Parts: sequence; structure tokens; C-alpha cells
Amino acid sequence: MRAGPWLLVVVLGCTSTPPNKTWAVYMDSVVGPAYDDVLEPATRAEGATDLGAVARAAREAADVMALGHGPLVDPRVPDFAERARAAEQLLREIAAAADGGRREELPAMITRLNRRHCLGCHEAAGITGPRPTPIQ
Ligand code: HEC
Repeated sequence: MRAGPWLLVVVLGCTSTPPNKTWAVYMDSVVGPAYDDVLEPATRAEGATDLGAVARAAREAADVMALGHGPLVDPRVPDFAERARAAEQLLREIAAAADGGRREELPAMITRLNRRHCLGCHEAAGITGPRPTPIQ
């Protein structure tokens, strides 16, 4: 019984775990809720913002964006990887601002995220859906 080569295949296969969902599912189940439920409310003055929750939501969304310039890059959308990388970077800056207690910086950063990054990529992808709601 020659188990060696198969064992090698199994070990190599485990070193890089592929994402187990599609980009659309990550958007709908992670990025959308993180944005709608936590990040967007943090742009409103009356929102009693839990900064720990903001940092966590921003990191969850950033981790999805990292897949967009990695295994889930969509070559049909112009500059998809660059857009995903830029969105990831801003989300990590939002997380850092929340960690640092810099609440007053959040509205401008999240507004930029909404317009330039979320809606910018959706426009490039030809998505005309309602989410996220544009911030004026
Ligand atoms: C790098 C490009 C890119 C960025 C950045 C991006 N999206 Fe998306 N998004 C897409 C694509 C492409 C789809 C459509 C996926 C599909 O249906 O195949 C999508 C779909 C969605 C959906 C599900 C469709 C719907 O209308 O319900 C939500 C919600 C969503 N995005 C929210 C966001 C939010 C919030 C942000 C910003 C934090 C964001 N996206 C940033 C590319 C992007």
C-alpha cells in the first residue's frame, strides 16, 4: 500500500485553506451586516457607538476585502483587486481609529468608505442594488 504520495497531497492541500463561500455570500452575510448594523450607525451623531463593536465589524469586513485581492478576485470587474485592497486598508484604519478611541474621526472615514469604496466598486461592477444606502 503506497500511502506516501496521497499523504503529501493532503498535507499540501491543507496549507492554504480556500475560502468556503463566494464573494456574493461574504458580501451579503458579513460585509453588508457589518456596514449596515455597526459602521453606518457610527456616522450618526446620536448613535451611542460601541467602539469595540466598530473595530470588530471593520476587521471582519477587512478580512473579506483581503479575499478580494486574493482567492476571490473577480477579473470581470475593472481594478477589482486594487479596489478590494484600498477598501481593506481603509477598514483597517477605521478599526485602528476605533481601537484608539478616536470616535470623532469615524464619520468622515465611514462616509469615504461608503462613497469611494463600497459604491465605487459596485458602480465598476455594474451593481445598481440598494445596498449600501449612499451617504449624502
Ligand atoms: C472590490 C469590489 C467591492 C467592494 C470594495 C465592495 N463591494 Fe459589495 N459587492 C461587490 C460585488 C461584485 C457584488 C455582487 C456579488 C454578486 O452578486 O455576484 C457585491 C455585493 C454586495 C452586497 C449584496 C448585494 C445586495 O445588494 O444586497 C452587499 C450588501 C454589499 N456588496 C455591500 C458592500 C459594502 C457595505 C461595501 C463597503 C464596505 C462593499 N460592498 C464593498 C463588490 C464590492
